[in-house]
Amino acid sequence: MAKKNVSIFMLTALAVLTAQCLTGGEAAPADGGAEIPAGEKYVALTFDDGPRRGTTERLLDGLKERGAKATFFLIGQQIEDNAALVARMAEEGHQIGNHTWSHQRLDGILPDEAAQEVARTEAALEALLGGGEYWLRPPYGQVAEGADFGVPLVKWCVDPRDWESRDAGKVAQAVLECAEPGSIILLHDIYPTSVEAALQVVDRLQEEGYWFVTVEELLWLNGVKPEAGRMYRTGRG
Ligand code: NI
Repeated sequence: MAKKNVSIFMLTALAVLTAQCLTGGEAAPADGGAEIPAGEKYVALTFDDGPRRGTTERLLDGLKERGAKATFFLIGQQIEDNAALVARMAEEGHQIGNHTWSHQRLDGILPDEAAQEVARTEAALEALLGGGEYWLRPPYGQVAEGADFGVPLVKWCVDPRDWESRDAGKVAQAVLECAEPGSIILLHDIYPTSVEAALQVVDRLQEEGYWFVTVEELLWLNGVKPEAGRMYRTGRG
């Protein structure tokens, strides 16, 4: 997410929180036109290994219809061929992050190779979307001890292993069994079954009063100030 968007979001969220204190619960429009009231149930859907033509597009359509925001951790070498999709993610208020250039395990390669994997993806994102902070989800959730890539690191607390079952109903069920306010949910938008599962999860949890926000918004709404180099598994920090 570009810095400008972050500050617009924070100002708007602050306005919402202030409005809540003053009026006792009315929501004001937040970034992207969605309403994000304070003190509600929030979760973050995150999608790794894309973008992928077809599946990511279908997901973006579904999220848009439902007014849900998500976070996409992109593989650098797939960005250029899918530039329009990535631009659309940003335009529609989703957070965009880095999942390395070629999906390398960062604790299994030399430190300068790891730095390259991250920097090359960051450069591709900056070329397409402009300067900003692109948070990192390391493949397999691991970085070498002491490695600092200069941005917050995002892990997850709900993992339905969607790549294994490739069954939308099972994946949705596994998420619904574990999700709670503050959850960061791991899915992969390269599988049609995971896209279908994600939309089922949004439908069900929205009925239960949940709001789908980006990871950055989730942390902010929980009063957590993100720090570079720190790994976040839930919205509670
Ligand atoms: Ni991955």
